Amino acid sequence: MAKERMVKKKTVYVGMSADLVHPGHLNVLKKAADLGEVTVGLLTDAAIASYKRLPYMAFEQRKQVVENIKGVHRVVAQETLDYVPNLRTYQPDYVVHGDDWREGVQREVRQRVIDTLAEWGGELVEVGYTEGISSTQLNKALKEIGTTPDMRRNKLRRLLQAKPMVRLMEAHNGLTGLIVENAGIDTEEGRREFDGMWASSLTESTAKGKPDIEAVDVTARTQTMNDILEVTTKPIVYDADTGGKLEHFQFTVRTLERLGISAAVIEDKVGLKKNSLFGTDVPQTQDSIENFCAKIKAGKAAQVTDDFMVVARIESLILEQGVDDAIERADAYNKAGADAILIHSKQKTPDEIFEFCERYRSIENRVPLIAVPSSYNQVTEDELQARGVSVVIYANHLLRAAYPAMMEAAESILENRRSREVDDRLLSIKDILELIPGTK
Ligand code: SPV
Ligand code: MG
Repeated sequence: MAKERMVKKKTVYVGMSADLVHPGHLNVLKKAADLGEVTVGLLTDAAIASYKRLPYMAFEQRKQVVENIKGVHRVVAQETLDYVPNLRTYQPDYVVHGDDWREGVQREVRQRVIDTLAEWGGELVEVGYTEGISSTQLNKALKEIGTTPDMRRNKLRRLLQAKPMVRLMEAHNGLTGLIVENAGIDTEEGRREFDGMWASSLTESTAKGKPDIEAVDVTARTQTMNDILEVTTKPIVYDADTGGKLEHFQFTVRTLERLGISAAVIEDKVGLKKNSLFGTDVPQTQDSIENFCAKIKAGKAAQVTDDFMVVARIESLILEQGVDDAIERADAYNKAGADAILIHSKQKTPDEIFEFCERYRSIENRVPLIAVPSSYNQVTEDELQARGVSVVIYANHLLRAAYPAMMEAAESILENRRSREVDDRLLSIKDILELIPGTK
């Protein structure tokens, strides 16, 4: 018996994301294979998205790659950033990891690995950092190369699977697209970023100096989408206003889908559309349930891929038709095949949204819920998530931030008949020249 144990091959566990496989990964796996039989715990999309951006390749694609690397005996899913559940299941003799996790978000994860291995005498083996290569560098390079329409389109569905809350910020031109792409802060739980862009009809129209009444047509808006698509990789949710006539909406779906946009949101209004935040201050008419369901179905029938999403936006609360009406519509739009429901409100508090969310839970096989907390801005993402909201949209904030700053600069120059007084509130000349890569 004792002899048998002596010859038994040691077992080794390696946790990794393996999105962009580079020599650093191969070094870790080589070391692991020298120590024994290697099980790779491949982090799921959800495990990765819990502390950094969604991987470029989906789990199954990454699995295929890792399974074919020399020395890998098997690949299992690691569902959390925390190794402990898998370590308890597989009880490896060794865990092998790069030594780059001693600092930052993963420091605690590392400590838990050491403590758990100690329970059965296992050991953590760390491999030195591989000079000249890192996922961060590769990510940067990949961003410069860009993405494909197929990869981008599919990202919204992947995000909905992987993250309890998907965070979108409006973009209305290439520059704001770049802000949504690149803005981020480091927190205790990892990197926090926006997951994608909201192509707002309000901010895009306003940026063009036009009213938000569907006067900026799909052709003009497609041009803006192209500007954004050209410099970003994150998914885009397109505000399609009413969608226009059913037959026209079908063309819009095809156009957006071909560009790699992930979703079109249509609102259940007819006639001359006015911005929802006017509420009942302006005449606005809600579509009948029957007509709007037909439009949802037409959009779904027009799409070519399985990835594209048609989102039904309910205007009942905006038009003061009450939560009962909103729920009746939510039920009908679910049945008509909508891929998500956007519930809008212009109340100063989230009460009616919360009531809707509570009642929405009783709809069977319901699709994800999207909220746009512009007027009830005291609400937190956590509060919305707790009530079953999966996507939050910051619908107009970059434009609203820019306009007062631009007006202030214009007025200061008029006042002083020179620009020095406003200079410390401006991007420096050096910074603007360096802002966009390739300007030099
Ligand atoms: C937009 O951003 O254009 C929207 C949201 O549709 S709202 O302005 O609140 O109607
Ligand atoms: Mg709009």
